[in-house]
Amino acid sequence: MTAGALADPSAGAFAGQGVVVTGAGRGIGAALARAFAAAGARVVVNDLDAAAAHAVAQECGGTALPGDAASAEGLAALVGGSREALGEIDLWCANAGVAPSGGADAPASAWTLAWEVNVLAHVRAAELLLPRWLERGTGRFLATVSAAGLLTSLGSAPYAVSKHGALAFAEWLSATYRHRGVRVHALCPQGVRTDMLASTGALGELMLAPNALEPEDVAATTLAALREERFLILPHPEVAEYYRVRATEPERWIGGMNRLQRQLEAGGAL
Ligand SMILES: NC(=O)c1ccc[n+]([C@@H]2O[C@H](COP(=O)([O-])OP(=O)(O)OC[C@H]3O[C@@H](n4cnc5c(N)ncnc54)[C@H](O)[C@@H]3O)[C@@H](O)[C@H]2O)c1
Repeated sequence: MTAGALADPSAGAFAGQGVVVTGAGRGIGAALARAFAAAGARVVVNDLDAAAAHAVAQECGGTALPGDAASAEGLAALVGGSREALGEIDLWCANAGVAPSGGADAPASAWTLAWEVNVLAHVRAAELLLPRWLERGTGRFLATVSAAGLLTSLGSAPYAVSKHGALAFAEWLSATYRHRGVRVHALCPQGVRTDMLASTGALGELMLAPNALEPEDVAATTLAALREERFLILPHPEVAEYYRVRATEPERWIGGMNRLQRQLEAGGAL
């Protein structure tokens, strides 16, 4: 199937496609794996948590390949194992992510973890996938970024900075290889009801929970966006307006974010 074939929703766009989802033992990744499987794809389910990966793979009729989807060794094993299971990898979903809290004083380990999992995992996967995709003239890369990659993330500098990096890499990939059949998509939700959101405590409760979506809704929006060949996927459509204000009225945007920071400080969430 060519990359262009996904544009036709009547073609059962994902039927028979080989899809890998990293960090798919729970949350958004598990919802993506289930949605692609329901659309007829053959799915590899990866997660650091082996039991969770096996449980989701069983539900999806897919293959569990647990392990680290960020390190060079882990990715080499995952790409190799996925090719054995699927033949070709048509779609790579770089979904695994971490959200350490903290500011400029966050420990070096938090910065390193965010950089490795939220950014370098995408770069390393692309390095392994691109030669074959360019040879075939087709391949698809879905990066689970975050609205934090377009805006910011109060309370977590490593998350904001690394998600900007993930978006920058996805944009670069698309700009560089689009004419050679490589399609790239950047999924940028705000709050989604997962363990990651729950782990942010009072801050997430105040800032993200009120408008949070279910992972299944995010997955449905994502599949529709892939069918429409959209680069930027915004399950919360209002993010487009925040992004516009950030780009065109940066002083106003920073002022608004700082007002929010002060409200969160006053409420004891930060
Ligand atoms: N939940 C939200 O509000 C939200 C919003 C925007 C973006 N996101 C992004 O969505 C993605 C998924 O988040 P989620 O909310 O489902 O999180 P989650 O914590 O519920 O699930 C993430 C999964 O990734 C796995 N994982 C972490 N590091 C890994 C690694 N190195 N290799 C393999 N698996 C690994 C974890 O074991 C976990 O099962 C992340 O990239 C996150 O930054 C989440």
